[in-house]
Amino acid sequence: MSAPWWQSAVVYQIYPRSFADATGDGVGDLQGIRAKLDNLAWLGVDAIWLSPFYRSPMADFGYDVSDYCDVDPLFGTLADFDALVADAHERGIKVIVDWVPNHTSDQHPWFQEARASRDAEKRDWYVWREPTADGAPPNNWIQTWTEDGPTWTLDPATDQWYLHLFLPEQPDLNWRNPEVVAAMHGVLRFWLDRGVDGFRMDVLHALGKDPDLVDDAPELLPIPHSALNHHESTYEIVRGLRSVLEEYDGDRMMVGEVFLLDTALVASYYDGGQGLHLAFNFPPLFTPWDAGLWRYRIDEVVREIEPQGWPSWVLSNHDQVRHRTRYGSEARARAAAVLLLGLRGTPFLYAGEELGLEDAVVPEDRVVDPGGRDGCRAPVPWTGAADHGWGTPDAWLPWPPDAEHRNAEALRADEGSILHLYRRLLAERHGSTALQVGDQVLLDAPDGVVAWDRVDGGDARRLLVNFTDQPVDVAALADGWTVAVASDGTGEGAPAPAELAPDQALVLRRP
Ligand code: GLC
Repeated sequence: MSAPWWQSAVVYQIYPRSFADATGDGVGDLQGIRAKLDNLAWLGVDAIWLSPFYRSPMADFGYDVSDYCDVDPLFGTLADFDALVADAHERGIKVIVDWVPNHTSDQHPWFQEARASRDAEKRDWYVWREPTADGAPPNNWIQTWTEDGPTWTLDPATDQWYLHLFLPEQPDLNWRNPEVVAAMHGVLRFWLDRGVDGFRMDVLHALGKDPDLVDDAPELLPIPHSALNHHESTYEIVRGLRSVLEEYDGDRMMVGEVFLLDTALVASYYDGGQGLHLAFNFPPLFTPWDAGLWRYRIDEVVREIEPQGWPSWVLSNHDQVRHRTRYGSEARARAAAVLLLGLRGTPFLYAGEELGLEDAVVPEDRVVDPGGRDGCRAPVPWTGAADHGWGTPDAWLPWPPDAEHRNAEALRADEGSILHLYRRLLAERHGSTALQVGDQVLLDAPDGVVAWDRVDGGDARRLLVNFTDQPVDVAALADGWTVAVASDGTGEGAPAPAELAPDQALVLRRP
């Protein structure tokens, strides 16, 4: 049996506000994305994941949903969404949408109804607690994206606290209530019926809550509760989600955001084949550019994730400083592309990393995100013109550095660019089942280098990544191999060199 599509796919994350703007209002939209599908087909991605485009008051830029089954007018209409899916599918590109099950917006009609009175029919769709004698919140949980606020807000209308692991505008749903489960399953079916191929599921590990709302251990504070919560009731919830997806044919998939910085726990959400198809595993994202530390993270995935399910790999997204900025140079960003696209598992790219974008520098008076994440959400520059292809020079956030030269048009015209490197790496994957789904064998390598083979039957690739700023002798690993792709573009098609250049990475094939 051949592997399901999501194992061999490369997924490309689009943050709709920041990708492409068809209306010229400075905020990206669905028609903007649709107009760029040919660029994505040229690049060679297999699937796109769209961050939320649903109706939202935008307190968390769309991760606060007020209608799960409609498109926010800022982004377009349901007809635009249908057209986007149809056009993507025509190009062989799958579409994954974001599903935000842990919380709604405080403007969602469910919450409006729930907060109206203590005996409202939907009161129990959210999590409420009585005020305490000393006026303190019901427990010590810390909210996410703000310094150290509590996860509780006292609602004056009914004089009870409601729970919100994120902003007060994002009240947590009560997944113990079967009506909530049914309503949220209905949301999945709404989008499955519209033809989506899968879901990225937001803070999935946090859905089940300790019914006694026990305090977090004081020594763990101020880690936000959303990064600590992993109550056992979540597994049952995830199995239920999986069974909804299995009502449909075509290998519909779910990838969970499991923001627990413990790979063994992340692995547990695969749940012996009854849970997630894929889970984001974030420890590698937070790992510095160092061969020893990366080797450790790769080993950890082999040890913990591989026995449970198919790994995933990600270096950047809409919540974290871009890896081009974290690693500090384009040479490293290029080598990181080889690493990301060479490891066993499904790679997730974040729009703009193929351009080597750095985070924007956001002056104080342009800061809009309470979580400090504006830099990585800077709009993607498509051209070198003042409006960078957006129809206005004043997009919702400042442009990333050097957009005059570092933009999609200029890099496409330059075969030596990082954009062309990503394209060659994706093409190499498409031509190699070893790279897509093959076994992985880690090799002994000199200090500063991580080396591994990917093998599928007679197809094989060898990968070498130099994490140092010095040349390293790799003659013993290179002998008998040919360069398929080089992070700096040198020597492709020639016998593998005896030495890796500083921060250089290579994909090798048999002559
Ligand atoms: C996830 C999202 C993040 C959002 C949060 C609350 O972590 O990736 O952007 O703010 O959930 O929905």
